[in-house]
Amino acid sequence: MPDVRALPRPAVGRAPGKVILIGEHAVVHGEPAIALPLEAVGVTVHAEPTDGPLTMACLDFEGPLDSAPDALRGLAAAAKEALTRLSAPTAGLHLRFAADVPTGRGLGSSATAAVALVRALYAAYGQEPDMPTLLALADVAERHAHGTPSGLDAAAVAAGAPIWFQRGEAIAPVAVGKPFYFVVADTGEPRDTKAAVSAVHQHLADAPEAAKDAIERLGTAAGIARRGLDEGAPAVVGGAMLMAQDDLESLGVSAPSLEKLVVAAMEAGAEGAKLTGAGRGGCMIALARSAAEQAALAEALEAAGATRTWPLTLERTSS
Ligand code: PMV
Repeated sequence: MPDVRALPRPAVGRAPGKVILIGEHAVVHGEPAIALPLEAVGVTVHAEPTDGPLTMACLDFEGPLDSAPDALRGLAAAAKEALTRLSAPTAGLHLRFAADVPTGRGLGSSATAAVALVRALYAAYGQEPDMPTLLALADVAERHAHGTPSGLDAAAVAAGAPIWFQRGEAIAPVAVGKPFYFVVADTGEPRDTKAAVSAVHQHLADAPEAAKDAIERLGTAAGIARRGLDEGAPAVVGGAMLMAQDDLESLGVSAPSLEKLVVAAMEAGAEGAKLTGAGRGGCMIALARSAAEQAALAEALEAAGATRTWPLTLERTSS
């Protein structure tokens, strides 16, 4: 337990964004998914000691946590809960957020902000949250943002490493046999997770057999991708990504803007490409054949209309 008489000190917390490599939507129906941290974007929270109430500066808001707008209520609740767990007063700090993770693109902005916030608060009291604490506190924020979050986003950003996620199962690390060079590209169109998730439910109601098959195949593709990552086999991972894109299209969650970028990636020599996240807009992810081809792939995606691209390199894991 921290010393409750201790004064907070200036501290910083950071967390990366995330992407789903494979398994989005199917994960809602019990299949596994793989999520990756996206280090190219993230949120940094500066905790600055003051002699006033607990305040925050985030998005367009600056003021006491108690008057935070709806969009920031989850973060405010998580901050208070973290301070309570730290036996620290809910005062005496100004929390300044600096974010370059875009919102509404499936890159995990809300979970990223929550994890960075909790890290900053613990660091201000000389502590480091353990993983269960970090996930529990991020969940406080995510419940406000999403209602019933699967926990996938928070787990991926908190782990800072590839994870294998299946509802009701323990989160497992994903082994990576050699470096992989991905590019994440933004269509520039917002995605609507709720609408996309209900489109899949609608497919399950309208054509149950076909939809169930597609969902099951998405789970199989996640297993293939996991093996490909472990074995350091980009062609296997790329094949699984293309297989998943087909099934996501059949479930009605793709979009012309996403498919245009998938085609452009393949024409530029990618091993595989697919939408990432909820779909119907948002982002896609492509796998380059080599480090040397990663930048060229990003250029090809931008030439095909991507509004932004980010490199995502997975280093070989030690185990
Ligand atoms: O919110 P996004 O774009 O990261 O996508 C959510 C992923 C889904 O599988 C579609 C929904 C979920 O809760 O897992």
